[in-house]
Amino acid sequence: MGALATSTLTYCGIPLPHAASARTTQPLRLLGSPCGMRVGFAANLEHFRWPGFTDFVTSNFDLLTPEGEMKWSALRPAPNRFDFGPADQLLAFSQRQGMAVHGHNLCWNTGNPDWLKSVLTPRNAERYLTDHITAVVSRYAGKMDSWDVVNEPIGLWFNRADGLYGGPWLDTLGVGYIDIAFHAAAAADPKALRILNIHNVEHGDAYSEKSRQAALALITQLVARKVPVQAIGLESHLDAGRALDAAALTGFIEGIRSMGLEVLVTELDVNDSQISGTLAERDKAVADMYAAYLSMVLPAMNIQRLIFWSVTDKMNWMDYMKDNRWRRADGLSHRCALLDANLNPKAALYSCISALQQVCTQG
Ligand code: XIL
Repeated sequence: MGALATSTLTYCGIPLPHAASARTTQPLRLLGSPCGMRVGFAANLEHFRWPGFTDFVTSNFDLLTPEGEMKWSALRPAPNRFDFGPADQLLAFSQRQGMAVHGHNLCWNTGNPDWLKSVLTPRNAERYLTDHITAVVSRYAGKMDSWDVVNEPIGLWFNRADGLYGGPWLDTLGVGYIDIAFHAAAAADPKALRILNIHNVEHGDAYSEKSRQAALALITQLVARKVPVQAIGLESHLDAGRALDAAALTGFIEGIRSMGLEVLVTELDVNDSQISGTLAERDKAVADMYAAYLSMVLPAMNIQRLIFWSVTDKMNWMDYMKDNRWRRADGLSHRCALLDANLNPKAALYSCISALQQVCTQG
């Protein structure tokens, strides 16, 4: 793979080291290791074709999560057919590199193949869900670090009193779809960590607070029903235009931990849709958000997994989202990741390096 190109960015007025020297600073995974932390990244097969990508991720990370290849939409082209090819390729890469694998995801009320909605009924939904999870989790049993068993259970915009995310699984099975998914995953691979992956809970505003309350109510019910959920993933798709609240965030994490569950970060990146200005100004706002969040969340977490969703701005997922939340008024591409679209390090990378250094090396 080609070498990373040079960078001319500055951060807080200080010129950033160019990429060649970035390769000689300590990789993220080594900065995490004094905390016993694995540092991971999300990628799809396409990313590995980009010069410099493989070099960067193999030196910096020790955990991979497939961005799309393990979703229903990829694994299930038709009701009676599985396509494991792309997921197997990513798994083989991880094994060659000695990286752990975090599976994403086994059950989600969106992101499903088109055929699912038309075949699911209240009578057959449990069978579809159980069969899928049994087949997928058994296939990879012994090779997975963890699974997002249920993805995004909370979605306030469905306007339900319980705050649950609507869609085919909730519609056919009620909230019990979560129980079914976790029991099936536990039976198929008792060793992989079973995660309920939640989103929209990270910020300091009323919207995040409402999501946190809905999430805590749900988790309390799951624990009371002895559903075999072991950890809560905080997706952590942050927004540089919204404030954080350390007390609210750490209080939320403590609330989860007090129920005997672990907490990890599963999809960290920073949306800069609301940030105008020069590229350097936008990059500073994004970098500051990464640093502020990590300095709050890392000391509060009790399981040591930190997964970045956007390694590079190149073809980043936010540019393809239709919702206003990801729309930039100037139509420019997002600068959400650690590296820019040419795979040059940005201020975000250096602020994550500093945050990990502060928490893990000196912590
Ligand atoms: C996104 C992927 O990054 C995109 O490539 C895809 O088109 C849509 O999904 N929360 C999740 C992830 O749990 O699965 C989403 O990933 C991002 C938000």
